[in-house]
Amino acid sequence: MTRSSKLTRKTYRVQTVEDAKFIGSEYLMSIELNNVIEFGLPEIDDRFDIWRIPLKAKNGERIGEIVIDAISTFIDVHKTTSKDLLENRLLGRSERSKQKKAKTLEIPKLSMLRNTVGMGDSEDLLKELPNESVDLIFTSPPYYNAKPEYAEYLSYEDYLSKMKRIIHECTRVLNEGRFFVLNVSPILIRRASRSEASKRIAVPFDFHRLFIEEGYEFIDDIIWVKPEGAGWATGRGRRFAADRNPLQYKPVPVTEYILVYRKKTDKLIDWLIRKHPDRDAVANSKIEDGYETTNIWKLPPAHCKEHPAVFPIELAERVIKYYSFQNDVVLDPFGGTGTTAKAAIKLRRRFALFEREQKYVDYIKNVTLKEVIGSLDINWINIDFDKNEFRKLFDL
Ligand SMILES: C[S@@+](CC[C@H](N)C(=O)[O-])C[C@H]1O[C@@H](n2cnc3c(N)ncnc32)[C@H](O)[C@@H]1O
Repeated sequence: MTRSSKLTRKTYRVQTVEDAKFIGSEYLMSIELNNVIEFGLPEIDDRFDIWRIPLKAKNGERIGEIVIDAISTFIDVHKTTSKDLLENRLLGRSERSKQKKAKTLEIPKLSMLRNTVGMGDSEDLLKELPNESVDLIFTSPPYYNAKPEYAEYLSYEDYLSKMKRIIHECTRVLNEGRFFVLNVSPILIRRASRSEASKRIAVPFDFHRLFIEEGYEFIDDIIWVKPEGAGWATGRGRRFAADRNPLQYKPVPVTEYILVYRKKTDKLIDWLIRKHPDRDAVANSKIEDGYETTNIWKLPPAHCKEHPAVFPIELAERVIKYYSFQNDVVLDPFGGTGTTAKAAIKLRRRFALFEREQKYVDYIKNVTLKEVIGSLDINWINIDFDKNEFRKLFDL
């Protein structure tokens, strides 16, 4: 409603279009834009007791508005277009289109990172990697162990905050629009005595929250199904199998989650493929027939005498094939025995592995990478490694 007549319904101190324009001019003078901005027709909005004055550039283009409280006569700074924005819109039109042009010419960078194996806490080691230097992260995090005699975290919250800090560093080193894939499952906390109940902690859902807080886009929940019989060792479901009482029902867990997240970006996946600078890598990374078409992946678990929680190499291979190109860098911040690196090498990707325990780093060196160690260029962090010594030792 536009009014130049006096408003009588409410006790407005700004009553006419002229009043509003006068206050608007004073404001424009105070921000030194009075010579370059013109007014459109001020309007009263008596639902909110405000006047809105449209602001236009000399070419007539609308660039914002001034909002005045009709009762107090004050400028509402929260609703009024800011000085910065007005200046950008006035002066920056051509700059912005240049920026837009530059953006469309932008191409993804190829990482220069060498294969890397580091021993230590990945929260620290990740700091050694440059920003946006890895193309895929695939990992399975350490288990939270609630038993005081084994616990290394003060509490579950303490565990999650450690994971949060590591995810944060991972995000810095991950390229824009690329994937972070996590193998994780709920954990069972056995009862301490007969009078207590066992508990399950829904770890995947807590990780989901961490990823969303970090700004990731949730892409998929893949269910890794192990063959029947796999979960009986947990002892879950035995009580029910014997008594068959309702409420006591507990299924034997035979699944784990493979959660897929994508680092925040305004680029489409299609853009990443089209603009990839290594066209051969794109052509050679096409996925052959027989790939998994659903989110249920049936795979047997892996076992390793030296490590209690390895994932099968087939799992790492699938993830790497589906979420990276040849020559990409695949990071596993909780490297264990180095299964991720083994799969990466097989699929012609580079790898970065971090592992805290000396015994697993030894396993990575002496078993997982043994065959390729002499021919690969590897950057060792906190690890003594002499290629020639190693060759002599293993008679390679
Ligand atoms: C679930 S296991 C990973 C096993 C691995 N996927 C494999 O197939 O061998 C997690 C690993 O993370 C390591 N770890 C735990 N906390 C760590 C940390 N803060 N920094 C680096 N490694 C850590 C543990 O020693 C363990 O070997």
